[in-house]
Amino acid sequence: MNIYAVILLLVSLQVATAQVLPPEKICKGPPITFTKPNFADWSDPANQDAISPSVTLTRADHWPLLNVALGQTPRDVQNPSGVSFAVGSTTDTNLVFQSFTRAHQGWIGEMFTTNYGTDVTNVMVMYLQAEDLYVDLTFQSWSKGRDGGGFSYTRSTCCQLGGCGSAMSGDPHVMSWSGEWFDYHGQCDLKLMHVPNFQGKDDLDVHVRTTGRYLYSYIETVAVRIGSETMEVSSWGEYSINGVENAMIKSQGSTALRKSIAISQIGGYPIFHMQTNPKTHRFDIMITGSSNITMSILKDIVSVRVHNPTKADFGNVVGLSGDFTGRLLARDGVTDLSGDINALGQEWQVRDDEPMLFQAVRAPQYPAKCILPGMTKKEARRLGEGIAEEDAKVACDHLRDDAHAFANCIYDVTATNDLDQAMSGAF
Ligand SMILES: *[C@@H]1O[C@H](CO)[C@@H](O)[C@H](O)[C@H]1NC(C)=O
Repeated sequence: MNIYAVILLLVSLQVATAQVLPPEKICKGPPITFTKPNFADWSDPANQDAISPSVTLTRADHWPLLNVALGQTPRDVQNPSGVSFAVGSTTDTNLVFQSFTRAHQGWIGEMFTTNYGTDVTNVMVMYLQAEDLYVDLTFQSWSKGRDGGGFSYTRSTCCQLGGCGSAMSGDPHVMSWSGEWFDYHGQCDLKLMHVPNFQGKDDLDVHVRTTGRYLYSYIETVAVRIGSETMEVSSWGEYSINGVENAMIKSQGSTALRKSIAISQIGGYPIFHMQTNPKTHRFDIMITGSSNITMSILKDIVSVRVHNPTKADFGNVVGLSGDFTGRLLARDGVTDLSGDINALGQEWQVRDDEPMLFQAVRAPQYPAKCILPGMTKKEARRLGEGIAEEDAKVACDHLRDDAHAFANCIYDVTATNDLDQAMSGAF
């Protein structure tokens, strides 16, 4: 065999063995940071990170990681059970999964001292064996020896286990049901979600109306319909229920700031209203005690989010934000449009044979297409740059743990030229 043949063989072996993780098994939900302080009580749930039904991690004062969900206690542990680890991230190929100690090779304790080797990484993937899911993990600290067993990491959350929900906010950012964000800037009426026979009864629909101003676009109105009843929420907290405007808030004094109170219902689901400062309103339609549809309004920009949905309630959802497993599909339920967000948005424009949930008709209406901004967001942002990126970063600091939310926030603050927007979409 000549040298070229050997190279060819090596190249083809490389290609043949490159293992990628199955996308549907990767946890991509909003990241959280977990910290167990030194000498904190390992048996207290406050000092444990509940990741999935089978995995809850913590550490005692000077022992390795342990999985209390599988009944481990500090003394019987070399490694956490039910999980394995690989150095790298879920986008890498050929990850090697092993026990925690084998994966970090003893380096973890040295990692956060000043003189660790440059070949050491604090980025790992954790595999949840029982759930068959992969979590991205970045260690922030790890106390060695008898320093108290403290540790901290930022990790992705698993929308596959339920509860992430879906959202649309800002200069429109959409969060799919698997927790991934994408932007759609078309201006029109959009079917964000549709659930047939919601809770065994009538259909649930959430429509959003996007509009443009200067160089950005945003949600101006959200309409939620359950069965034959409709609630519409728009800029500055204006709302109507079945066409009656601001009924409850007016009668109770619209200027009074207050905590969450029940104001009405649609389709038998209670609606709570909350106002904590003059610029923000929030309406929650309670699905169950723990699950709700929140519409929050900051000045004239409206956001909507489904909190803690169960598969039983939202398993059949379709719409612009995709299906419950996170796929972004066309109306045929088959065509994957995740690679073409403009086509996805156009696909889910409200059609003329579908109920019009908004009271006022506004152009464009199907078959007239959604209006796409003429310039790219990058160009628009450069032109609109009144607020320095550094100032935007400071205003968005509360979102720093979540790279995507942080980026969205900076984007919105600079596009709208309004530092207050750092609080929009903070549900
Ligand atoms: C709606 O759900 C969110 C997230 O779980 C929660 O913070 C909020 O309090 C809920 N709203 C009401 C009125 O209970």
